[in-house]
Amino acid sequence: MIKLQPGEHKAIAQYIYAISAIILDDSKGYLIEGRLSSIVAELGCRSYGDLLFRAQSDKTGTVRRRIIDAITTGETLFFRDNSPFEMLRHKLLPELIDRRARIGGRIPIRIWSAACSTGQEIYSIAIVIKELLGDLDRYDVRLLGTDISDQAVARASRAHYGALEISRGMDANTLARHFERAGDQWKIRDDLRALASFRTLNLMQDFSSLGRFDIVFCRNVAIYFGDRDRIALFGRLERALDHGGSLVVGAMESLSTVCPQLEPKRHMRSVYYQSRVAAPVVRDAGQRYPAIPA
Ligand SMILES: C[S@@+](CC[C@H](N)C(=O)[O-])C[C@H]1O[C@@H](n2cnc3c(N)ncnc32)[C@H](O)[C@@H]1O
Repeated sequence: MIKLQPGEHKAIAQYIYAISAIILDDSKGYLIEGRLSSIVAELGCRSYGDLLFRAQSDKTGTVRRRIIDAITTGETLFFRDNSPFEMLRHKLLPELIDRRARIGGRIPIRIWSAACSTGQEIYSIAIVIKELLGDLDRYDVRLLGTDISDQAVARASRAHYGALEISRGMDANTLARHFERAGDQWKIRDDLRALASFRTLNLMQDFSSLGRFDIVFCRNVAIYFGDRDRIALFGRLERALDHGGSLVVGAMESLSTVCPQLEPKRHMRSVYYQSRVAAPVVRDAGQRYPAIPA
């Protein structure tokens, strides 16, 4: 493995911060080596400094995207931590549907998995929706999964999972109901796959064009960011919540000092956040939700 030379860490860490907001302090030299050395070798670079030069001078962005794919931690599993999905099933979705049912027509449900990794989170959400609501004809369900990693987004969109990934969080009955075999893998059934769309998105960039959401899952990503970026991110997520919308964060994350405009609310063993500032109710769904691409 090509070793990181003294002096290279700072420049590489600054570059990775600039393209992703991920902080790699001095203790993370092993991570840079472990994750980037194969790109250094494959591109025939002599050093990490050389890789940095290649990334910065590559106008196509290919090297930058490869670095992002390699440096990000896509650890995820189906129904991760379980209780947020119980809360979705027993609290967030029923309350949302109650509110919307009064308006009449097909009930819109917009959920965003921000930092969706390879898709296990958004398909867990899709499964909860399907099992709770059954026939979805009465609902206009749109799920959006975004992640900074092209590779993760492509895998999420493909919706194929190996036995090991399935064994992490998916019980046999749920598997039988919502997946079908695809060679030696499992593929989520088309009706659930059709609820979701995906795109590559860096959460540090403006995402206001996505419109507003009823529920946002943004879990286990802000832990990689510094305080300033975390504050900015949750401020913008608060503005992405529709009237009465809810934000769900990771089990080890708390927003009390990060985003005071978000009010923590408890359901059983889970916490979700709602804006203290009531967003205006917009009745025209097209206006409220500009475009989640199919
Ligand atoms: C540990 S996974 C979490 C996946 C899922 N939310 C969960 O909790 O199981 C973190 C994800 O955040 C993504 N990520 C890291 N930095 C990001 C950024 N600046 N913008 C968007 N996604 C980012 C990574 O690519 C990775 O897929």
